[in-house]
Amino acid sequence: MPGVPIYLETFGCQMNELDSELVRGQLLRLGYSFVDAPEQAEVVLFNTCSVREHAESKAYSRIGLVGKRKAQGERVLLGVLGCMAERDGLDMLRRYPQVDVMCGPGELDRLPALLDAARRSEAASQAERVALAGNRTRRSAVLSAVQDDLETLDLSRAFDPDAEGRRAHSAQVRITRGCNKFCTYCVVPYTRGAEVHRPPDHVIDECKRLADAGAIEITLLGQTVNHYRYEHGLAVTVGGREAPQIGPGLQAFRSPIPEGKRVTTFARLLQRIHDEVPAIQRLRFVTSYPRDFGRDILQVMRDCPRICRYLHAPAQSGSDRILGLMNRGYTRAQYEDFVHEVFEILPDATLAGDIIVGFPGETDEDFQATCDLVRTLPFKNNFIFKYSPRPGTIAIDRFPDDVPDEVKRLRNNQLLALQSETSARVHANWVGREVDVLIEECFTDAAPARVPAGGVELRWEGQRAAAGKRALRGRTAGDLIVAMDAPSGAEPESMVGQIVQARVDRSAALLLHGSVLPNTVAAGA
Ligand code: 5AD
Ligand code: SF4
Repeated sequence: MPGVPIYLETFGCQMNELDSELVRGQLLRLGYSFVDAPEQAEVVLFNTCSVREHAESKAYSRIGLVGKRKAQGERVLLGVLGCMAERDGLDMLRRYPQVDVMCGPGELDRLPALLDAARRSEAASQAERVALAGNRTRRSAVLSAVQDDLETLDLSRAFDPDAEGRRAHSAQVRITRGCNKFCTYCVVPYTRGAEVHRPPDHVIDECKRLADAGAIEITLLGQTVNHYRYEHGLAVTVGGREAPQIGPGLQAFRSPIPEGKRVTTFARLLQRIHDEVPAIQRLRFVTSYPRDFGRDILQVMRDCPRICRYLHAPAQSGSDRILGLMNRGYTRAQYEDFVHEVFEILPDATLAGDIIVGFPGETDEDFQATCDLVRTLPFKNNFIFKYSPRPGTIAIDRFPDDVPDEVKRLRNNQLLALQSETSARVHANWVGREVDVLIEECFTDAAPARVPAGGVELRWEGQRAAAGKRALRGRTAGDLIVAMDAPSGAEPESMVGQIVQARVDRSAALLLHGSVLPNTVAAGA
């Protein structure tokens, strides 16, 4: 398909961003090209998210716009990828006939064939244009883990340091697909299927190749990243090589590794990447599940200087009753114990999370318990969401969505204000300290940095950044955002992708202001 222009838009989470990057690499290698505006494209792809209704509505409105173009006679091929395709299934084709191709998140390796079929003939059959896992995902999970074609997609990723659409210094590597937790509100276990862990050697090989291509920061991705566990020596291999493996039951985290078994735990995986890929200056991971987060992981984080002491570990609620209804499997006290253990072993750690307000049956008292949690624990930020009933989940079937939207909105705003106070306290603690900052952006005060964080857009408040003067924005190892004037005499654009040392001069709710220390471009930068 030489040169066929594609527009690819991604909705939702980091997992989707990585999926889009892999899809893009795969299609570029096949000769497609990518454009920045849907109007310039012959193929429009939406990589969609089903976690909340809002994300779905946005995608549907985009699908509607493409439908209008097609109704006016334009020849454009529309593909819906990701969780919405998987969740809606063939129903989407009936309701939105403008959709030509559908591809679930577990089938993305098949996308080129689907596009090819749909482009060659408008009469291509549904089977040629649609790839969804359907209920196959869970029924034959063990089999699908072994024959995991998606693994090919991860393994065949392009390692182009100049790849458009990817900040070459920072990359993501998947270690686990899917999720086995079944939190009652969440659609992910249904759309992304059962938890499957990638062989450690595949992960390490990918990290090495990304480092060779210039990456200095790697973020390991998994829905519950600390549940990573790979048992070696199992009979199921592909061509003599280790294959992806279905996740073990939770019991595996509660008892010691049986004698004679060789297991790569998450702690061991972190240690291996740290030791075997020294060019990676920053190794981070998301998302952590607050239960079964072993002390061994915290000890490895303490002992390995290039592992970031940053945890994104969603609490979701501060009320035991709501946590129970959510099927989170921990109490508020257990969450607090976990956080205290984190700070006992890693005193300079930073903590972030997610919270849902307005879960069915959430009373004022439940909400106050959540407020209390946000007030008392040192969250640097929390992503706060209004509960959104999702078709197919346990919650939508069992619990009526009885918190009025207005109450959800009020609670959301109240919690944002409270989080902002907590964030301000956490950020103020860093004033006067020296930090390493990975520079991500260079801007002028006429075009301030726009950083979405916890739903809030930050604005650079540089006082010295007179009109036209260059400023820099980056992140500490703990994921705190730092804005700084570009040092005089430096070529600020060339500092993007480097780690510099800075002193923190002052703080705002979600932002630190610092100064680059002279002659302190850190090692590896
Ligand atoms: N409604 C609102 N928020 C949700 N999340 C997941 N499912 C829902 C839902 N149905 C939030 C959780 C999760 C984050 C990725 O999205 O907080 O951690
Ligand atoms: Fe969803 Fe819970 Fe799995 Fe996270 S752990 S992806 S919230 S089911």
